[in-house]
Amino acid sequence: MKFSKATNSKIGYSQSVESRLKIQNLQQATPELSCLSGSDVVKGLTQKPLSLSPHYLYDDRGSELFEKICELPEYYVTRTETSILQNCAEEIVKITGACELIELGSGSSTKTRILLDAYQKLGQEVRYLPIDVSAGILEASARQLLVDYPSLKVHALVGTYEQALRELQLSELPNRMIAFIGSTLGNLNPQACDDFLSQITAALQLEEYFLLGVDLQKPKDILEAAYNDYAGVTATFNLNILNHLNNRFNGNFDLSKFEHWAFYNETKNQIEMHLRSLEPQTVELGSLNLKVDFEKGETINTEISRKFDINAIQDLLKTKGLIPQKVWTDDNQWFGLILSKLS
Ligand code: AVI
Repeated sequence: MKFSKATNSKIGYSQSVESRLKIQNLQQATPELSCLSGSDVVKGLTQKPLSLSPHYLYDDRGSELFEKICELPEYYVTRTETSILQNCAEEIVKITGACELIELGSGSSTKTRILLDAYQKLGQEVRYLPIDVSAGILEASARQLLVDYPSLKVHALVGTYEQALRELQLSELPNRMIAFIGSTLGNLNPQACDDFLSQITAALQLEEYFLLGVDLQKPKDILEAAYNDYAGVTATFNLNILNHLNNRFNGNFDLSKFEHWAFYNETKNQIEMHLRSLEPQTVELGSLNLKVDFEKGETINTEISRKFDINAIQDLLKTKGLIPQKVWTDDNQWFGLILSKLS
């Protein structure tokens, strides 16, 4: 990547950032999608057991809370993946060469900086396409990156993975890599995971790369502590989904009448996160014309977080034509990063 000096003049500086930033909002183009219109909320709250799509955890407040979770002492996921990335970023750059880097669920793009630094250090050009449903965080982090990397170009896409993967144009650089790090794949059930990997395959050209971060199976006490942190940030994050529904669909959830509940299901190898109703109650979501009756103790599943076997996930990738080129892990083998190539 070539880096020009940033100008000190305020006007010149911001013009320079503007000219390197493109933000495309895909949500305006397809407002009828079920995950945005609320039809998935109606479905999830009218079928037993009750459930909500984890998408709704990530309004602007939820995204901020998730950033806090990533820094918690019990939440080993982020720091373990970060340390693996620090060790392998240059190797990744040597494999991909000059590259368009597409990141699904980019959030604050913190870990991406490790990759951007490695492209910069090895003198390989990179263009960055972050994709996230949270417009606020996406734009703020894109702008900060443009300030910190004066010749980087960013094309940010506001939308779901499905929307963005459909919109991808051919790469202008010799190579392209879709990065899906942070173990967000674990938040998809097996069918959704399979569908998602098919979408990745469809979005890539032959010989292009897919970088996947997955959280691996480990003792139950470590896993349960990570989703029941002492400071209660995960509980606040989970309860915030109700706030989000209230704001979005004119609802009257009373957050004090629900509690956070997370445990590891050893049969399915997944953390399950729920909200439990503390008393019998009826909640309304006005703009969805929906009334939900809760019994005392009844739960809403808000998220699963699957923990993978490193060999099984590579086998799954291979069935999609995504052939692992290199796998990196940490000393404890708690987290895995897999770089595969569509062949
Ligand atoms: C985003 N995702 C990978 C996180 C996870 O660990 O499954 C979301 C999360 N939920 C509670 N804590 C973190």
